[in-house]
Amino acid sequence: MGAETSDDAAVYQLDSGQAIVQTVDYITPVVDDPYSCGLIAAANSLSDIYAMGATPLFALNIVGFPVGSLSLSILGEILRGGADKVREAGAPIIGGHSIDDPEPKYGLVVTGLIDPAKIFKNSTALIGDDLILTKPLGLGIITTAIKRGKIAQPAIDAAIALMAALNKDASEAMVAVGAHACTDVTGFGLLGHLHEMTVGSKAGARVSLSKIPVLPEAWNLIHEGICPGGTKRNYESLDGAIVWNPGIRNEAQLILCDAQTSGGLLIAVPKDKTAALIQRLRERETPVAALIGEIIEDPDGRIWVEQ
Ligand code: CO
Ligand code: CO
Repeated sequence: MGAETSDDAAVYQLDSGQAIVQTVDYITPVVDDPYSCGLIAAANSLSDIYAMGATPLFALNIVGFPVGSLSLSILGEILRGGADKVREAGAPIIGGHSIDDPEPKYGLVVTGLIDPAKIFKNSTALIGDDLILTKPLGLGIITTAIKRGKIAQPAIDAAIALMAALNKDASEAMVAVGAHACTDVTGFGLLGHLHEMTVGSKAGARVSLSKIPVLPEAWNLIHEGICPGGTKRNYESLDGAIVWNPGIRNEAQLILCDAQTSGGLLIAVPKDKTAALIQRLRERETPVAALIGEIIEDPDGRIWVEQ
């Protein structure tokens, strides 16, 4: 399985019972604290493995670091965060590669294992499926506010905890109940990733703004005009693909397109399994377990956003 439906990771079948799942992801720092940067980058890299319903086996570090201008102790903290997070996922880091780079970058190649009969693609949602989201939106707006010094420490700490949270529990819950499709919400925002799901599944979707969890600070910040460039690009690139209820303000439209770092899973689950999935997500204390909408018939893959 390759890039044809923009799925989260590559899958290479080994034999009838086993396939390798592999992904690579690295990011520039989203917060100031280097240890937290390591935690977030690793959770972000592991997320594509979890979105496929796979189990991580091992990881390799990818590092860019300005050796001449920043203390190596900072790099040590980044790598300590990464190692702690990968250990939490139950996998070791067993190698890597680093280069001298004016702007720090960190991430991982992660290799996982999956039963080829139980791969969770983003393109296999069925009409009538419910859509479940496992982390709130607004992380892109908040990390932009952090870079501009426009946000208080408690809100920063809450955003770090969310971005550093593994999607492991959410993944195990969807595997246990038998969902139909999944993707993680990252750079293309909720609606960008949902659009990949609808186009791949040859269906549409209907979501309700009032049901979609959003970090309260993100509303304040977008009201002050703080919005990442990637979020605006997501909004523009989805022009024509989204049917907005006329009552939905532009600020809300941008939040639904907000580019997330290490966002949650977006899961399409058959309606008769929705209650069981939400119960499992709550038992595992995923950040949220929100029923935000459903897959509907629409061969053009459009997304209808209600109030
Ligand atoms: Co992904
Ligand atoms: Co990715």
